[in-house]
Amino acid sequence: MHRALLRQARRIQLLPLNINTRTPPARSFSQTSTMFKVDSDFDKVQASRPDFNRDQEVTYSKPPNPGWKQGDGANDGGESLKKNHIEIDPYEEGRPATSNYKFLISGMVPRPIALISTRSKDGTSTNLAPFSYSQVINHDPPLLVVGFVGSLDRAKDTLKNLAETEECVVNIISEHFVEAANATAVNAPYGVSEWEVSGLHQAPSSVVQAARVKESVLAIEGKLVETKEFKNREGRKTGVLAIIEGVRFWARDDAIGEDKSVVDLKVLKPISRLGGIQYGRTTDALEIPRPQF
Ligand SMILES: Cc1cc2nc3c(=O)[nH]c(=O)nc-3n(C[C@H](O)[C@H](O)[C@H](O)COP(=O)(O)O)c2cc1C
Repeated sequence: MHRALLRQARRIQLLPLNINTRTPPARSFSQTSTMFKVDSDFDKVQASRPDFNRDQEVTYSKPPNPGWKQGDGANDGGESLKKNHIEIDPYEEGRPATSNYKFLISGMVPRPIALISTRSKDGTSTNLAPFSYSQVINHDPPLLVVGFVGSLDRAKDTLKNLAETEECVVNIISEHFVEAANATAVNAPYGVSEWEVSGLHQAPSSVVQAARVKESVLAIEGKLVETKEFKNREGRKTGVLAIIEGVRFWARDDAIGEDKSVVDLKVLKPISRLGGIQYGRTTDALEIPRPQF
């Protein structure tokens, strides 16, 4: 395994510290329990890590090969061509669905996190929870998608409210409230609000009933377009896709210019979801001009 990658994997705890660097990478790769469950040593591990650097600015570097020309291919001098791949059938015999979950959430990274605020249909309760099966899929009209584990008849509170009211607010998580946002993932019973648990503040929305997160640099009021349920191979309903139209945007005034378009990454400082309980920062960027034919 490439040394820099190995160092990085150790830092984020994908590999045990005593892994033998000479063994073939794919099959010797093992995940620590901290990948998905916090074990008793986690406090010690956390304490051993450097403090969060609040002053870390977003910086821009050159791309790895600034002199890249058409046809040059990868920028690693052919190193990646020497590696082998293993093929995985997601439904191979004996493979549990959790392996696919771990594979997908650790491999399809980084993912934006939609911190979704909803209100119950009768208006008596509010709900706030994070979802990283989320993405923007169109801008005209503005469309977002969110994937919910479960089904409409066993819906997470957010999905129940979204399906019943057809409204929500999608808030983007920034570094300055990552712990509070994480706290909203608590599996509180329906009707118990995560706002108090998190200590986050509600701000009024304009065209939907659910509140925005006041601390969020960016929030999008949304109306449900449609939901689609998915079944697994045993015929059990296991996932619901929600398509949401963004009907009102909110951006902090120091994060957006007069033309109300580009959101400033240096202010947004978005937090993304990586595998397991890992979150990512986006503080290292590079720019490459779009090719013209
Ligand atoms: C960062 C993060 C991302 C998550 N992404 C998803 C997701 O995409 N889909 C999902 O069903 N659950 C996801 N979860 C779990 C839900 O947040 C969790 O089940 C929560 O309790 C749901 O709350 P609710 O029942 O109030 O809607 C995520 C949790 C965290 C911490």
